[in-house]
Amino acid sequence: MSRSQRIRHHYQPRIDDMRANYDVVDWASAEAQQIRFAVLADNLPLDGRTLLDVGCGLGDLLTFLKGREISTDYCGVDLLSEMIESARSRNPDGRFVCGDIFHAEQNGDPLGANELFDVVFCSGMLNLELGNNHDFLPDALKRMMQLASGHMVVNLLHTRTEKKYPHCTYYDPDSVLKILKPFTADVRLIDDYLPNDFTLICNAADGRQ
Ligand SMILES: C[S@@+](CC[C@H](N)C(=O)[O-])C[C@H]1O[C@@H](n2cnc3c(N)ncnc32)[C@H](O)[C@@H]1O
Repeated sequence: MSRSQRIRHHYQPRIDDMRANYDVVDWASAEAQQIRFAVLADNLPLDGRTLLDVGCGLGDLLTFLKGREISTDYCGVDLLSEMIESARSRNPDGRFVCGDIFHAEQNGDPLGANELFDVVFCSGMLNLELGNNHDFLPDALKRMMQLASGHMVVNLLHTRTEKKYPHCTYYDPDSVLKILKPFTADVRLIDDYLPNDFTLICNAADGRQ
């Protein structure tokens, strides 16, 4: 099975109107999902900014930001057309595009040519175990840094997690910081909001690649 087939295989059966949104996108609870959004919103100015939500799922980040009266020029991208359709129906005012920003050369770029965003955010997209997550991570971080004119923010599951699931991948913050070193010297690690997660806030304007 290819990488995208495995992602589809995991999420497609979860897309069901009877499930809560957090459950469709496979977070443990709505609170755990929203705490991750709050780390973004509490640490960067977002009002009036262009924001790319990579692996946007049902677009819950946009709903969260509107609830806080934060107005962004939002774009959500997801691999699954079913997620995008559902996200559009929940937030008709949002821009949602379907595709894979990491394989744009083979499959076509779902974003505009040379499009940059003030903030690129990626919540949970890199946590599903696909057999090559740690090999894929440097390319994924590089691509997201390239798409950001201001900041790139990513959260990942932490290796310190006590109850680990076999379908998830866990990351060591120090190893991820090493990967980011060639791209920027300005990275902030936040790891005090949940026991199983950490967030990296990277200044993409510092040492642009
Ligand atoms: C854990 S869910 C998180 C959804 C959303 N960020 C949230 O927190 O509500 C991960 C999402 O990433 C999407 N995804 C995984 N790999 C992707 C890729 N290469 N490109 C775009 N979307 C991807 C999945 O389809 C899924 O909707």
